Amino acid sequence: MQATRDHMSHTHVVILAAGKGTRMRSADPKVLHRAGGLALIEHVVRAAGALEPSTTIVVVGHMADRIQGALGKRPGLRFALQEPQLGTGHALLQAESHLAGHSGTVVLLSGDVPLLRPSTLRTLVEAHTSRGAAATVLTARVDCPQGYGRIVRQEGRIAAIVEHKDATPAEREIDEINSGIYAFALEPLFTALRSIGAANAQGEYYLPDLVKIYRERGLVVETVSVADSREILGVNSRKELADVTAILNTRRNDELMASGVTLVDPASAWIGPDVVVGPDTVIHPNVYLEGRTHIGSNCEINAGVRIIDSTIDNGVIVNNFCVISGSHVRSGARIGPFAHIRPLSDVGEDAHVGNFTELKKTTLGKGSKANHLSYLGDATIGDKVNIGAGTITCNYDGVHKHPTVIEDGAFIGSDSQLVAPVRVGKGAYVAAGSSIVEDVPAGALGIARGKQVNKDGWVEKKKK
Ligand code: UD1
Ligand code: MG
Repeated sequence: MQATRDHMSHTHVVILAAGKGTRMRSADPKVLHRAGGLALIEHVVRAAGALEPSTTIVVVGHMADRIQGALGKRPGLRFALQEPQLGTGHALLQAESHLAGHSGTVVLLSGDVPLLRPSTLRTLVEAHTSRGAAATVLTARVDCPQGYGRIVRQEGRIAAIVEHKDATPAEREIDEINSGIYAFALEPLFTALRSIGAANAQGEYYLPDLVKIYRERGLVVETVSVADSREILGVNSRKELADVTAILNTRRNDELMASGVTLVDPASAWIGPDVVVGPDTVIHPNVYLEGRTHIGSNCEINAGVRIIDSTIDNGVIVNNFCVISGSHVRSGARIGPFAHIRPLSDVGEDAHVGNFTELKKTTLGKGSKANHLSYLGDATIGDKVNIGAGTITCNYDGVHKHPTVIEDGAFIGSDSQLVAPVRVGKGAYVAAGSSIVEDVPAGALGIARGKQVNKDGWVEKKKK
């Protein structure tokens, strides 16, 4: 194990992401398109992280700023600019200055190949180092090799890689392809890269040409074959983005089901890679769980729900068509249908938030209920409070937001407005239809509405 770690500590990762991605037909850089809850390149950076690389260099060119901005600053992460883009060999050359004075292994990845498993990368590096190779190519056998570089072997050993556009009809019959993923020994790499030429069908400096150059110089070139060829699928079009999204979703959902989560329809459960879901929770169709969401055990998340960056404790029922973001829902609470829980809200244990109720930056205490048609914003609501249908906290005066406090056990009658800043004391009542503009003391009844007048016989008089 220790020996493995020593190899790892000298691993450097280079991720190519300078290309244009023309076939996406997008104003955004290809590697920032999202699949399985993350940008494509984020999947690659995470998989590379399993190698514990001392340096990760992303080669950027087309829309370099956008990619750099999206990845941000991280320990060990560097960027190299490739301008203009003259091919994959030329792209790797741009990483040279970051690796000067280092030794070890360079693992080359593409920013648009998001399905690669960390275990495959570990196998590649272990095979490469244990065989003392100068280069190791990750290859795959595929049904449709169209477009890929082909692995040309002599007496069983890899002799060259021929790009599809440069291949003879006989070479095009080869079904073993270059994944575009390699491990290289650092020492001979950059000198050899400079001897690659561009006399080929695309007039580019092809990185795979290194194989032939190494073999001619008597350096050891090895291959590792990936068992599941889908792992090396690259994204070049929207169609491929959707294909990769479906594969990532299946992987993620298989993991969740294995851990004890019921997915009623796995194909329509979209659960991000950083989401945690406890056992015996049931997730219905068309549910989106995003960001750093944590869902406890024994929850029921009904169809059409979207939860972002929120914590849902055990035994919570979220009924259909709710959106919950940046909030905490405590155990035994019931939400929805059709509730909107906006950031910084905290729904207490066994509390109920019913249909067409919106919370924003609001705490609803233990056992409290806001069952129908309410807006509760910037409010601190105690335990066992009843919020009647149609209650509105008027928290905004057009310039500033103001707080509402409703203490334990208070009862807010239906269709009341609480004009903030305002406080309703412990156990107090607000009469239905009130516009409360002053504090209601504990134990009092606040009535703030026009007094009713009944005019006896009025209808008969009107008729005359
Ligand atoms: C490449 C390989 C091919 C392999 C295939 C696997 C070459 C010449 N061919 O072909 O053997 O089967 O990948 O998917 O390497 N890039 C740059 N700068 C450049 C050119 C490309 O950063 O100047 C980046 C691209 O953004 C992309 C990656 O390198 O992330 C691969 O480039 P691409 O043009 O897609 O190569 P392929 O034609 O797919
Ligand atoms: Mg490609």
